[in-house]
Parts: sequence; structure tokens; C-alpha cells
Amino acid sequence: MRIGVLTAGGDCPGLNAVIRSVVHRAMTGHGDEVIGFEDGFKGLLDGHFRPLDLNAVSGILARGGTILGSARLERNRLREAAESASELARQYGIDVLIPIGGEGTLTAARMLSDAGMPVVGVPKTIDNDISSTDRTFGFDTAVGVATEAMDRLKTTAESHQRVMVVEVMGRHAGWIALESGMAGGAHGICLPERPFEVDDLVKMVEERFARGKKFAVICVAEGAHPAEGSMEYAKGEIDQFGHERFQGIGTQLAVELERRLGKEARPVILGHVQRGGTPTAYDRVLATRFGWHAVEAAHRGDFGRMTALRGTHIEMVPLAEAVTQLKRVPADRMREAESVF
Ligand code: F6P
Repeated sequence: MRIGVLTAGGDCPGLNAVIRSVVHRAMTGHGDEVIGFEDGFKGLLDGHFRPLDLNAVSGILARGGTILGSARLERNRLREAAESASELARQYGIDVLIPIGGEGTLTAARMLSDAGMPVVGVPKTIDNDISSTDRTFGFDTAVGVATEAMDRLKTTAESHQRVMVVEVMGRHAGWIALESGMAGGAHGICLPERPFEVDDLVKMVEERFARGKKFAVICVAEGAHPAEGSMEYAKGEIDQFGHERFQGIGTQLAVELERRLGKEARPVILGHVQRGGTPTAYDRVLATRFGWHAVEAAHRGDFGRMTALRGTHIEMVPLAEAVTQLKRVPADRMREAESVF
């Protein structure tokens, strides 16, 4: 079998572990040939690919990013690709395509699959918001980075009696904010799922200071927003690529808290630091398992599906099911977090 693999969308720690696993399982387990398309679907459309063998994937397990490069999708080019999917597969002589990516990539994968290309998807996103899998690799790494940042920020916040507002990634779902906020002992967490009241945050900080605590850390997802009338704020805009660009809710909230509290507040935007660098052990293992199962699915002819973690098992779920809805933080998870503020 000849397998084509590509990584598309925003990068994520663990992508290289999937590529490595696909190559190992395919070559040593089945005697397959593997080629990697460069820069996501662009490589598929433009014919930029290279052979991947055991040496090509040696030493990449612990490396962040993706050796194949990645790119966000241009939807108009994708339609073009879907229309010529079978033709492209024939042209490159591939029997199956394994795209590794998030919501946009999996939607594209579904279009290609519907157009006749044999596809087995692998989900990835640090946001952990793909509904049909319990976890995505990259999330654990991002949560670890944000947690460590909060641990560090607490000592400097305490020295200066400041309020730290830490903005983490998460456009539509607040999983990183929730879990890093819990692990990092944040005193307030703001999620996209639930508009926050600035008055509640002001009260929390005042109460902490009243009982002798001289600092506070608030963890805010980039997609969080205040409740109507809670504070004035500038909303995000859609950029030329169709992606939402945020105005920095962390910065806006820090300014507002400083004004209302009369205490120093500092915003810290973690940004792409959360996506860079070496994946955690958990993410390397999950990514490796996804790669193994993707190759096995390809050999069973289990096309139009993607790998998913269900409990401790890896299952194959239809691509159609994978992209229908976003997995959001349920209210009870937030209640658990609030009890330890
Ligand atoms: O979807 C993953 C993600 O990391 C989001 O959390 C974040 O909003 C976005 O990608 C950033 O995208 P870009 O790399 O295009 O700035």
C-alpha cells in the first residue's frame, strides 16, 4: 500500500509523533510505502511531497511542530481539491490519505472522502474541542505550559501585590483555561462558554486581600467575553483569511480590574508559547496510538473515518460525526473548578 500523510491547520505538539508512528507501522508492520505532503493540503494540490522512511522520522518523537510543515486552509482551493480528489490520488499513486488536523482539516478530509478519495483522519488541536474524541494530543502540553506559567506568575504577583490576568488559547471552548486554571490554582477562570461578571472578579480579589492574601491570578480563555453591561470591551474581528482575531480580552480585563480595584494588574498573553516545544509523555503516547490505528484502519479499508479516544480505547468514528459540533466545557466542570478558587 502507498500512504500519503499531511499535517494541516495550526500546528500542535505531537504531530511528529503521529507521522513517526504512521511510518513505523506502515513500513515495518505492513511493508508499505509512505509519502508526506508538504504544508498541508497545499502540498497535495501543488504536488509537493517527499518519501518518508524510518530515517526520515528518526529523532522526531520529542520535537514540537511538524516536519512536514502546515498551513491553514483556503476553502476555495479545497473545493478545487475535492473535485479532483480521485484524480489526485491516482496521480500520486496513493491508496489512502491520512490528514492530521483540527476541525477545518477534518471538514476538508470529509469533502475529499465524499469526492472519492480513500481517507483516514487523525484529529489534533491543543483546544481539545473536537466532540467525538475524549482527548486530542497537544492539549496536555498546552495545559502544562499554562500551568507552569501560573506557578511562576504567582511568586512575582505576590512580591508586588498584583493581580495577574493570564490569557490562554481557546477560541470557542475553554478547556485549556479550565484545566490550567485548576492545576495552576487560579482564583478566577473565564471561559467562552459562560460570559463573566467583572463585579464577581472584583469581589473575589477584594475578599482575598481582606483576608491577608496579597495577590490574585485570573485565567482567561482568549474567546471569553464579559456579560452584557459588565464592562466595555472591543470584540474580535475577522481577518483577511476568515479567522477571528481577538482584541486581547486579557489586556482589556487587566485594565478594567486595575481601574476598579485601585491595585496594579498585569496581563500576560501566553499565545503560541502554548503550542510550541516538546510534547508531554501523554501527548506522545496518544499521538503514537492514533498513528498506529490510522494505518490499521487503512488496511481494513475503514475509510471516511478518523481515530478517536473513547475512554482508554481508540475507536474509529465517521468524519461526518467528527465535525458536526464543538465540545464545550459543561457547567458542572466549571462548578468543580469554582469550589477551589
Ligand atoms: O485552534 C488552535 C489554536 O491554537 C487556537 O487555540 C488559537 O486561537 C488559534 O489556533 C491560533 O491560530 P493561529 O496560529 O492562526 O494564530
